[in-house]
Amino acid sequence: MIAFDPLSTDERVRLVDLHPKLGDLQQEAIAGLRSSQKALPCKYFYDALGARLFEAITELPEYYPTRTELGIMSQAVHEMADAIGAHATLVEFGSGVGLKTQKLLDALIEPSGCVLIEISRAALEASARQLADRYTDLEVIGVCADYTQALRLPRPRRPSARTVAFFPGSTIGNFTDEEAVRFLGRVAELVGQGGGLLVGIDRKKDTKVIEDAYNDSLGVTAAFNLNILSRLNQIGANFDLTHFRHHAPYLEREGRIEMRLISEREQRVCIGDAEIALSEGEHIVTEHSHKYDLGQFEEMARAAGFRLTKQWSDERDWFSVCLLEVD
Ligand code: TRP
Repeated sequence: MIAFDPLSTDERVRLVDLHPKLGDLQQEAIAGLRSSQKALPCKYFYDALGARLFEAITELPEYYPTRTELGIMSQAVHEMADAIGAHATLVEFGSGVGLKTQKLLDALIEPSGCVLIEISRAALEASARQLADRYTDLEVIGVCADYTQALRLPRPRRPSARTVAFFPGSTIGNFTDEEAVRFLGRVAELVGQGGGLLVGIDRKKDTKVIEDAYNDSLGVTAAFNLNILSRLNQIGANFDLTHFRHHAPYLEREGRIEMRLISEREQRVCIGDAEIALSEGEHIVTEHSHKYDLGQFEEMARAAGFRLTKQWSDERDWFSVCLLEVD
C-alpha cells in the first residue's frame, strides 16, 4: 500500500463558494399556501431551534430510524469500508460531522479526502474545520452549494481511487419519488464512472411503528413541525400557533409519512401582503418521509444509473444502508 505524504494545515482545508441562491422564503411560503393542497417547503425546519428539536427527536424512544441506522453502521462499517476500498474520496451532503460520518471515516482505508457540500456558508466553515481538527491527515474540501442543483466536484490533491458519496438518515425519503430519482441521477454524475453512493433508507413496516415515530408522546415532533410557523412569523406572518395541531399519518398507498399542520378552526392568516384562508380541519403539508421496500428502491437507483450492489439491514429489516455503484 502506498503511504500518502503529509499535508500542511493550509493544504488540508479548502473552501469553494459556488454562491447558491437562497430563494425568497416568504415568496415560496406564499406560493405553497396558495396551491390547492396547501404546503410549506421543508427547508424551513432547520433554523437553530429546529436543528435542536430534530436532535431531540433522534433521542425519542419512538423515533427508531437514527438508532437503527447507527446500529447497522456499528455492525457493518468495516464491511462498508472494504466495499468502498482504499483511497476513496468521500462526499457528504449537508454539514457532515455527524456520528455516522465519523464511524465511516474512522473505518475508511486511507481516504484521499472528504468533500462537504452544504448550502449555509457558516455551517460549512464550522464543520470543515471540525472535521479537519478531528482527522489530522485528511484533506477537507468544503463546497458552499445547493446539493439539489447540478455541480462539479473539486478534486483532492492526493490521487483518488474513486468517489463515494454518503447520504444517511433516510433524508432521501424526504424527496418525492421523482425528485429522489433526479437527485440520484445527479449524484451518479457527480461521483462518475466507478463511483458510488452509500445511502440510508427507511423500510416499509408496521404502520403503528412508523406513525408512533412521527407522532411521539412527548410532542417533540409536534414542536418541530409547528416551529415552521414560528419561523414564518419572524418574516412577516401572523400564524397563531395555538390554532394549529401536528398530525403525521402514514399513507399506505403512497408509502409515506405526511407531516401535517391541521387548522383547528376557520381562520385567516397574513403573510407579507398575502392573506390565506383556512377552513376548520384543513391541513398544510410540511414534509414527506417515504418508506421503501428494497426492490422498489433498487428500481429507483437503476432509473438513475446506479446498481444496488450491497445492502446492510438490522435484524428486523426496519432500515437499510445501501451501496449503489455507477455501472
Ligand atoms: N429524514 C428523516 C426522516 O424522514 C429525518 C426527518 C426529516 C424528520 N424531517 C423530519 C423526522 C420531520 C421527523 C420529522 O425521518
